[in-house]
Amino acid sequence: MKFFVDTADMTEIRDLAETGLLDGVTTNPSLIAKSGRRILDVIAEICEVVPGPVSAEVAATDHATMLAEGRRLAKIAPNVAVKVPLTRDGLRTCRALADEGRMVNVTLCFSAAQAILAAKAGAAFISPFVGRLDDVGQDGMMLIAEIVEIYRQYPAFETEVLVASVRHPQHVVESAKMGAHVATLPPSVLRQLFNHPLTDKGLAGFLADWKGTGQSILDDGAPVAAE
Ligand code: E4P
Repeated sequence: MKFFVDTADMTEIRDLAETGLLDGVTTNPSLIAKSGRRILDVIAEICEVVPGPVSAEVAATDHATMLAEGRRLAKIAPNVAVKVPLTRDGLRTCRALADEGRMVNVTLCFSAAQAILAAKAGAAFISPFVGRLDDVGQDGMMLIAEIVEIYRQYPAFETEVLVASVRHPQHVVESAKMGAHVATLPPSVLRQLFNHPLTDKGLAGFLADWKGTGQSILDDGAPVAAE
């Protein structure tokens, strides 16, 4: 399963990229606004740090302007995935950009029917928003299960399921069990994945015992007492 981080904050992106576990980045107009920077600058900088797909979203809602914006965003770097909303014009734009060989991420997906349309439109990624469905009392993970199952029936569909609006590690684990290709995570959730209290407790015990030996792995001069 691939992990993308859902942010336009360069400090977070650089920090998480250092782990070697980051496969891509997603942004949206709200995240760009939060960064306080120009979209063209921040996307270019992200693309330099992360070689995987970097989603940059169009801001227009009509096909002609979306297409122009999408082409402009795609020109920033070869790893830009143009993000378009799941509307009729958005899917038309997706088809046009995909036919030009560009990666498209279709966002704001809330139904399996919408996901089928995105695959037919040649999307590289479909982004179902699980957290926002949970927020309105629906089951976000059920939608992921449905889309994964549908896409499996059609090997010609090349669209990857990119689980979005992730709120906690359980969303990630459930998505992985279902076979979703990608999850895009807020930095805080990505960091949560590393943690378990028993890991901390176990490590503290190992380190205390190790200290008692007086050994150093890097200093091979110290004699070790035979048992
Ligand atoms: C995905 O690409 C979106 O940017 C994101 O996951 C939206 O998540 P939110 O519901 O937390 O805003």
